[in-house]
Amino acid sequence: METLEQIRKKIDKLREDIRYHDYRYYVLDNPVISDSEYDELMRELIDLENKYPELITPDSPTQRISGAVREEIGTVRHRQKMLSLQNAFSFQELKEFADRVYRELGTRQVEFVCELKFDGSAVSLSYENGLFMAGATRGDGETGEDVTANLKTIGSVPLRIENPKYEFMEVRGEVYMPITAFEKLNREREKESLPLFANPRNAAAGSLRQLAPRITASRNLDIFFYGLGYVSALQEKTHFDALQLLKQYRFRVSPYVELKKTIDEVWDYCQKWEAEQRQLDYEVDGAVIKVNSLEQQRILAETTRNLRWAIAYKFPGEERTTKIVDIVVNVGRTGAMTPLAILEPVQVSGSRVSRATLHNEDEIRRKDVRIGDTVLVHKAGEVIPEIIKVIPEKRTGQERPFRMPERCPICGALAYRPEGEAVTRCTGAACPAQQFEKLLHFASRGAMDIDGLGPAVITQLLQRNLIKDVADLYTLRFEDLLTLDNFKEKSANNLLNAIERSKDRPFPRVLFALGIRHVGEHIADVLAEEFGSIDELKKASLEELSMVREIGPKIAESIVSFFEEKSNLELMEKLKKAGVRLTSVKEEVKAGPLAGKNFVLTGRLEKYSRGDAEELIKAMGGTVSSSVSKNTDFVVVGEEPGSKYDKALKLGVTILTEEEFEAMLYPTTSFT
Ligand code: IVH
Repeated sequence: METLEQIRKKIDKLREDIRYHDYRYYVLDNPVISDSEYDELMRELIDLENKYPELITPDSPTQRISGAVREEIGTVRHRQKMLSLQNAFSFQELKEFADRVYRELGTRQVEFVCELKFDGSAVSLSYENGLFMAGATRGDGETGEDVTANLKTIGSVPLRIENPKYEFMEVRGEVYMPITAFEKLNREREKESLPLFANPRNAAAGSLRQLAPRITASRNLDIFFYGLGYVSALQEKTHFDALQLLKQYRFRVSPYVELKKTIDEVWDYCQKWEAEQRQLDYEVDGAVIKVNSLEQQRILAETTRNLRWAIAYKFPGEERTTKIVDIVVNVGRTGAMTPLAILEPVQVSGSRVSRATLHNEDEIRRKDVRIGDTVLVHKAGEVIPEIIKVIPEKRTGQERPFRMPERCPICGALAYRPEGEAVTRCTGAACPAQQFEKLLHFASRGAMDIDGLGPAVITQLLQRNLIKDVADLYTLRFEDLLTLDNFKEKSANNLLNAIERSKDRPFPRVLFALGIRHVGEHIADVLAEEFGSIDELKKASLEELSMVREIGPKIAESIVSFFEEKSNLELMEKLKKAGVRLTSVKEEVKAGPLAGKNFVLTGRLEKYSRGDAEELIKAMGGTVSSSVSKNTDFVVVGEEPGSKYDKALKLGVTILTEEEFEAMLYPTTSFT
């Protein structure tokens, strides 16, 4: 009979062996045992861990795939900000970068590290005392999404580091999908009639953000580590040494990192990889050039808040000629009608291109693009197919100019292009093409505030035809909701209750929630105040609307065209039937210390956010406007006020400091 201590030793040894073989296989791509021998080790470990579950540790190789499916992705704060890189597109721009570096450092003794720029998703992994604790996407640079469980499924991500030199270490890298894995994935998805990923980068980003780690695990992601974030008391003196340390810790570092002494050598590296990039089984969209000395990096970084010690050289994209077979109109989620060129398919920068956006009518006119034209195409930013120019010599006289349709090709509602704008829009609030965005806005905090109705749920409701427009939310049944992914009794009830509660939102919020173009939160308040109900607003003419304070011609025009569309009137009826408030409930007569007073806010207040201050004023009976006029009673001026301050001075409007404003809000009784 073995003692627990002996078992523990055996487990440790198995784990160490498996870690080594993972490293040989995933990082070095050079395994020293067969798959079946590896499976044998793994099985032995799993058996022991099953028998002695108290000996399972989170860094055990058996813990790479957790069965847990999360409800949503949490967030992680980066200890050190994840900045992005400035781009260079020519040798000239690289030289300018180097010259700036030399100038700011006051020396030409600068070494550069050249690396490939992997085209995937940036991640940051933190290790504490050698254990992998958390991993996150870049997010906004300060906080990213928690993808720890998904990163664990990537075989080349070390779950532990032997003999770590540092107590805390943030390691940065790029998760990507190998091209072969990407093609295989799309072939499988095609068979199952699932939407295809546009490129390996999107596929990697999508796979990394899965709620179920098991799905991520099936996607064959990989990672290259290219740097450090925050490290407690870092000793390395150069970026190159830091990469060597990572390699020593068995992180997967690219083999194509090279040290260069001059910008000419850097350029040679860029040129070489521009020519040879297609030999790799992953997409790179350029090279990254970094100042090697960490001390020099620090000096450069201190000059501004941007990253100044590195630059990305972007490889130019390929250009090809092809023919425009047709021009169709695509309706986006915001109702924007975008002309789209249908092309004779051509291979450009690694993928087949058969359509290209033409942006808008003006763009077509400017480039003089006609149906039947031969054109030069490329991929803007290596992603979006774009027409560079027409080749007029190839014209036969058979080409036809394009005209924007008067109605939306999806729902048939009137199209409308406001004066001075480039974009033509569909006015149909019930247009299927726009429903996702409309619903998201409808449910959002400042609008109907429907808790639990986020992008994932909306997508499913639409895909399963459970709803067609915002009014359909109110006819959803309990059974409908149970068919959604991860929905159980409790979540279904919660959502139904949240939808029910939204019927109580005051009219101005409903008006805002409808998503009429140019009708933001504040304008919705103004309109509700002035017209009192949807029925009155609907009757208002362009002139009547334009007479209202703060309603300019653009807003007036947008409202009129909204109510001109029959389908929108039908939608209002549906909402009314559902019990949503389309009329202002006459609020208790506006009383309070600020009754009848109109305020304008400018500059930053110390104690209140703009929103809070507005709420307070309204709660005390006052009104808030966005611009100063003769009707303004008070302008509250905070730090760094804008032109409203000057205007207030000019019109002689009373100006309040934050203290004076506060005194009005909370008048104290004086005894003298
Ligand atoms: S350095 C700290 N090195 O490119 C500065 N970035 O805008 C940025 N990228 O999404 C990181 N390969 O994830 C660096 N060898 C490499 C890179 C690389 C790809 C990505 C990075 C970020 C973007 C930079």
